[in-house]
Amino acid sequence: MMNGCGDGNDMEMGAVSGQSQDGLMNREESALEGLVEKERLLDELFKLEEEASRAIARASSSKALAETATAVLGKRSTLSTIHRQVASLQPEERKEIGQRLNEVRQKLDELIAEKRESLSAREREEQLEAERMDLTEITPSFLRGHLHLVTLTQMELEDVFVGMGYKVAEGPEIETDWYNFEALNIPPDHPARGMWDTFYLEVGEPESVLLRTHTSPVQIRLMLEGELPIYAVAPGKCYRRDTADARHIPIFHQIEGLVVDRGITFGDLAGTIETFTTAYFGPRIHSRLRPSYFPFTEPSAEFEVTCTICTGKGCRTCSDTGWVELGGCGMVDPAVFSAVGIDSEEWSGFAFGFGIERCAQMRHQIADLRALIENDIRFLEQF
Ligand code: FA5
Repeated sequence: MMNGCGDGNDMEMGAVSGQSQDGLMNREESALEGLVEKERLLDELFKLEEEASRAIARASSSKALAETATAVLGKRSTLSTIHRQVASLQPEERKEIGQRLNEVRQKLDELIAEKRESLSAREREEQLEAERMDLTEITPSFLRGHLHLVTLTQMELEDVFVGMGYKVAEGPEIETDWYNFEALNIPPDHPARGMWDTFYLEVGEPESVLLRTHTSPVQIRLMLEGELPIYAVAPGKCYRRDTADARHIPIFHQIEGLVVDRGITFGDLAGTIETFTTAYFGPRIHSRLRPSYFPFTEPSAEFEVTCTICTGKGCRTCSDTGWVELGGCGMVDPAVFSAVGIDSEEWSGFAFGFGIERCAQMRHQIADLRALIENDIRFLEQF
């Protein structure tokens, strides 16, 4: 019984003391584990501190330093991992590791700030050095351009006519068939249209809008303005399907002239052209008016000058004729006056259209007109 009781008690006792011993064991074990974990973390922090300090010292640019800082202090860094592990430690160890963690973080923060300061100072210096201007350096001076000979010629021609009391007008380079042909007494089936093989635009009715073939449509625009008398010149670009040669290019310039007043005669036209020739070419050049035909002038003439390349002897430029045509002219045809509603009983007038490139060609003895559009600087810089 005793035994039995004793046994029973022993068993009970054993059970009680066994439980408390196990509890003690568990506490001791977990204290030991905590200690091991703490040592491990301290060790890891130590290594981290060493390695991170070296990485910071090694960073050779602000960009590289920023990358190192993210690797060392960022969310995925070992420091953050340790920080998360601290939560599972006993309060005592947690405090110690926590303090150490803060020390390491603070130290790394300081190292990064110092390094950042020194790197950016060095980079600023390098940039200043790279951008430094040597104010004593002598650079080759700018090659200053100048206006193209065609522009200069246009300005000179305008000046001559402004000097004679003309105003300078302008018209569009894209014209309708009516302004370019019809109002100028060139109806659709008129053979004169064949002279200006035209660039038509695909706008509206077929062959109704075009790149103007001459500056004469500006005559129509001026007369439609309704202010009389008119003394005007209108320079500008013209477009024709002409094959380029010594006297032709497909895009060229003309200067149109129009005078409408009471009592204007062919004598006024001839006198004006002579005055112009002397003013622009000087007294030595010879000119002539040769009877011709234009649908919008009656009578009409071609204005020609002696070829200045061969001085009239005949050459490739003048097709061996000794003369070069500069433009057409004539008295305004009554049909044109009637198209714009001007009374041809009361008003009369003359018109002319000179090629600007041709004027420059004869004035400066340019054997081939194509030189004006080839953009060879050696040629252009002579003018
Ligand atoms: C006309 O264009 C008429 N509108 C001129 C006119 C105006 C006559 C007013 C009567 C009254 P013509 O097609 O001949 O005419 O051209 C006149 C001038 O433009 C020519 O003498 C020439 O100097 C110049 N020219 C014509 N075609 C070209 C071209 N492809 N390249 C360079 N210059 C040109």
